[in-house]
Amino acid sequence: MGNKEQGEFWNGRMGSAWVSVEDYIDRMLEPISSEGIRLAAAKAGERVLDIGCGCGTTSLQLAADGAAVWGVDISENMIARANEKDPGSAAVRFSVADAAVQKYTPDHDCAFSRFGIMFFDDPVVAFQNIRSGLKSDGRLVFLCWQAPANNPWIAIAGQAVQPFMTEGAPQPGPTDPGPFAFADLDYTRKILVEGGFTDINIDPVEREIALGSDLDELMEFQSRVGPLSGLLDTLDENTAQKARQAVMDAFSQHLSDDGIVASAAAWLVSARNSG
Ligand SMILES: C[S@@+](CC[C@H](N)C(=O)[O-])C[C@H]1O[C@@H](n2cnc3c(N)ncnc32)[C@H](O)[C@@H]1O
Repeated sequence: MGNKEQGEFWNGRMGSAWVSVEDYIDRMLEPISSEGIRLAAAKAGERVLDIGCGCGTTSLQLAADGAAVWGVDISENMIARANEKDPGSAAVRFSVADAAVQKYTPDHDCAFSRFGIMFFDDPVVAFQNIRSGLKSDGRLVFLCWQAPANNPWIAIAGQAVQPFMTEGAPQPGPTDPGPFAFADLDYTRKILVEGGFTDINIDPVEREIALGSDLDELMEFQSRVGPLSGLLDTLDENTAQKARQAVMDAFSQHLSDDGIVASAAAWLVSARNSG
């Protein structure tokens, strides 16, 4: 998918679906997200860009740490939701924009993203553009996903729906825009160097994350924004029910007294504007 198709995707079904399970996503991601917010270390007097800010949760957290935050996202639905959540603080503003081409002034101390920067069709151009919004010593901090094999929280469903996929359906390449585009560290480093960043540091963040108190809660997420979403519309009702059941069966072994818990693995990336 190119940036235009990404725009259509995040402004179409996915935008409204994401808003509908926003609280679930925030709860689920918190053990990983908090590491990104901690490393960003936003403080009073700083200006921070939140790239692909979605419904604005991280923008509001960065602002609570004292920074003036500009959240940018290509999805109108998600920015509308972000504006609803903003208590009207002068420290936060949100814009619907393609972060890869948006014009920035070079006065930001930090560009941050929680899983919002793996969707550019030309990541080098996008990172060069994001860098244009940073001060000469500005920092970049983002979270991206490790490979699906290290992320059972989502890969379990991906495997369970495989038998229901149309035969010969195109499979995304490992660095194609999408959640796993930056799973390969060498590739990510190369993109950042070509994008004009230096002092690149990448650390794993691996956590057990909570996917809901029961299978019903889990299925809300899986069928709205997980691997089942989109697929269900292509199946007749009987087959769709079988696909739902396959996902529930696959997760049932992860059900415990604490609800459904599975492993998740992200990369926490930091870098500095090379000036
Ligand atoms: C996986 S979601 C993450 C959203 C949010 N950061 C969060 O953690 O909840 C990816 C986000 O990137 C946004 N996005 C994708 N391509 C973009 C682009 N070119 N410019 C700005 N935002 C983009 C999507 O609209 C979506 O909100």
